[in-house]
Amino acid sequence: MKKLVVANWKMNPYSTEEAGAIFNGIKGIIGEMSKIEVVICPPSIYLDALSRQGGLNKIRLGAQDASPFENVGPHTGEVSVQMLKKSEAEYVIVGHSERRAMGETDTIVNKKVIAALSSGIKPILCIGEEVRDAGGEFFNFVKRQIDDCLKNVDKTLLKNLVMAYEPVWAISGGKDSSADNPEATFEMAEFIKKCLAEHAGEVYSGKIPIIYGGSVSSKNAGDFLSKGGVSGLLVGKNSLDPVEFGKILEAAEKSNV
Ligand code: PGA
Repeated sequence: MKKLVVANWKMNPYSTEEAGAIFNGIKGIIGEMSKIEVVICPPSIYLDALSRQGGLNKIRLGAQDASPFENVGPHTGEVSVQMLKKSEAEYVIVGHSERRAMGETDTIVNKKVIAALSSGIKPILCIGEEVRDAGGEFFNFVKRQIDDCLKNVDKTLLKNLVMAYEPVWAISGGKDSSADNPEATFEMAEFIKKCLAEHAGEVYSGKIPIIYGGSVSSKNAGDFLSKGGVSGLLVGKNSLDPVEFGKILEAAEKSNV
């Protein structure tokens, strides 16, 4: 299976031109790499322009969020999964901790997962604890997130789901944030697999990729993929620099040999 590397550009960059330049830089670096699937998630307003730059055979596009309402309607400020699909988005990040911090609940995230799956867009569902407590309560927290965000989801569509484990404390920009260590991620990835199997049954959950996010860099990318029990990475800050992101992609390409 190809390693999945997702770029979460967050609220960057400032203009369509800059977005185009980063996109082209990344496209150039991907070149002939064939063992990875790269997904760029820019602010939705840039999706159309990027889709016209060509190269969607090498790079997939994704959005960073979507409305829980699937199509069109009186929902001011919302962008639906159907609209994102028309702008060539194949993936959508849902439940990112930065959105949860603005009030998004598991109930809302659940609706977004259902909207995405039923519209044929692949949701990248973000879960992860805020604190890694010594007593291990964070495992229960993650299990609850999985169960609540996947409530009433059609199991036959789970093959299109991506699970992103992003411990909130590891995401760059936070006070004292630093990446998880791959051994701890391995333990969590195994736990997430178990939770998914309990939730949906192994037949449906077995193919769901689990990816890691939180201060991923060219220095730790290879280790997460070889020792972290995950089959991909979700990269924030370092996905905006084509040179650094290119090194992460090279590490992922090599890790599949
Ligand atoms: P980071 O962000 O790589 O900058 O830590 C990851 C994310 O929030 O998705």
